[in-house]
Amino acid sequence: MLPPKVNILICRDAQSVSREAADRFVCASIKAVAEHGAFYVAIPGGSSPKGMFDLLASPDCASLVPWSKTHVFFTDERYVPHNHPDSNYKLANDMLLSKVPIPMDNVHRFRTELPLEEAAKDYERTLRDTIGGDIAFDLEILGIGTDTHTASLFPNSPALDEQTRAAVPNYAADKDSWRLTLTIPALCSAQQVVIIAMGKDKAPALRDAINTDLDIHVHPIQAIRPWSGRLLWLIDAEAASLLS
Ligand code: 6PG
Repeated sequence: MLPPKVNILICRDAQSVSREAADRFVCASIKAVAEHGAFYVAIPGGSSPKGMFDLLASPDCASLVPWSKTHVFFTDERYVPHNHPDSNYKLANDMLLSKVPIPMDNVHRFRTELPLEEAAKDYERTLRDTIGGDIAFDLEILGIGTDTHTASLFPNSPALDEQTRAAVPNYAADKDSWRLTLTIPALCSAQQVVIIAMGKDKAPALRDAINTDLDIHVHPIQAIRPWSGRLLWLIDAEAASLLS
């Protein structure tokens, strides 16, 4: 298979990355609702999406998004209660979802109150019941870790080999904790994938992900090759500093 064309937009700074990501969120929401009556978006945790959340919650952006037809999913979740400071749901809820008129039924969090396996199966059911049997996000935002993990797909972890399920538990060895994550088939179903990265800490990961041969077990982010969708890297100058 030919490698996918890599589209990279290098922004001046982290704020510009967040602005570009927020703009893409707004545009994708309007387009998806016009085309098929709903907007299915998957968002990550971590620090990278915070600037985008902030902008989307601002009146200028928030008034443009058709929130009543927007369904928010999570690319992954830490296996903690949903009101725990580490929860990806809590982060998105505090910074964005509680500030915009999205019906709470349209916010699809991992039910971490269930046992791990059940929580993963429950999320897959939710995805298929909401989006349809063939999951296809309109937009997926992803972060990248310094070890090139994305969502909770860590280097050399079993979830990387999952071919059929949409969501699975995965162990984060370096954090000695469990996560729940969408799998490669689910993540590659998106019509538009935007990977955001900012800061010089991310520069080696960006170089490894983009400039080295494909090996998804070493560099999980390389597995994100949407089947029929577009992939864009939105990165700041510091994160781009080691790209050749
Ligand atoms: C999470 C993630 C994860 C994240 C990267 C980057 O829950 O932490 O979804 O994949 O995107 O680890 O994290 P930062 O944005 O904090 O650098």
